[in-house]
Amino acid sequence: MKIGILTSGGDCPGLNAVIRGIVLKGTTSYDLEFVGIRDGWRGVVDGDFFPLTRHEVKGLSKVGGTILGTSRTNPYEGERGGAENIAKTLYGHRIDGIIAIGGEGTLAAADRLAKDGINVIGVPKTIDNDLRATDYSFGFDTAVNIATEAMDRLRTTGDSHQRCMVAEVMGRHVGWIALHAGMAAGAHAILIPEVPQTLDEIAALVTSAHDRGRAPLVVVSEGFKLQGMDEAYSDKGLDAFNRPRLGGIGDRLAPEIERITGIETRATILGHIQRGGSPSAFDRVLATRLGLHAADAIVDGAWGQMVAMQGTEIVRVPFEDALGELNTVPLHRYEEAAALFG
Ligand code: F6P
Repeated sequence: MKIGILTSGGDCPGLNAVIRGIVLKGTTSYDLEFVGIRDGWRGVVDGDFFPLTRHEVKGLSKVGGTILGTSRTNPYEGERGGAENIAKTLYGHRIDGIIAIGGEGTLAAADRLAKDGINVIGVPKTIDNDLRATDYSFGFDTAVNIATEAMDRLRTTGDSHQRCMVAEVMGRHVGWIALHAGMAAGAHAILIPEVPQTLDEIAALVTSAHDRGRAPLVVVSEGFKLQGMDEAYSDKGLDAFNRPRLGGIGDRLAPEIERITGIETRATILGHIQRGGSPSAFDRVLATRLGLHAADAIVDGAWGQMVAMQGTEIVRVPFEDALGELNTVPLHRYEEAAALFG
């Protein structure tokens, strides 16, 4: 059997480890043949494939980014898009199925293609950890570690100047990165999309920490909304999916915090730093295991399903289990952390 592998949507540390896991297990245990698909669904639509052997994946588990490239192309758009055209393209290259590694948008497209008769297996990916049906997605642990290290650094400069430091992290709809990195770094306030708050509430936490002689650290998810805001802050236009490009709420909050509290305040936006570089050991292991199990899923003909982590096991779930609702931070998890604030 010949299988195409693609990575689609925003990249994240661990994508290459998945690719390596699939190819190693698929070639050594099952004699499968693989092709790499360039730039996500764009490569499927354009028939942009190249041979992917054991040689191409050697040493990849520690390498950030994706050797396949990625894009936010919708496979149903364009002249050569749509399930019928894609089926012809795959048939022309004698490709029997696709492994799609991606987040919600990628898996939604995979689900639709699977329902339209294309053989697809999914592997969930997101640094935001916002997909249901998998307890953790690879990339998240690395992002949390990067954000934590950055905040540790912000705290030492904040301490020196007795300033309030605002650290903005990624998290479009959910606050997992902010919650975990904030807890790890000992933040005095953690602001997440799931829990809108007022400026006065934030200022009270900052003042309380400052009054105890601490340099306050505020962690904010890019998708956080102050009470009364309908949409997350965005001033950078739209992305390829017509979603607002987020980033900048930290810069908005910092002068307001300074105005209300009288404490000198600085903001740092971590941005794509959180998605770059080498995956953590946890993410290398998780990504590799997902890849190994995706190869098993091909041989079992488990089309229309994705591999996922539940507890410590890798399981298979239908695409729709991961779609629709997001894996938001439950209120009790936020309230648990709130004992550390102020
Ligand atoms: O979905 C992951 C994510 O990192 C979000 O947290 C963020 O809003 C978005 O991707 C940024 O995407 P882009 O790479 O298109 O700027």
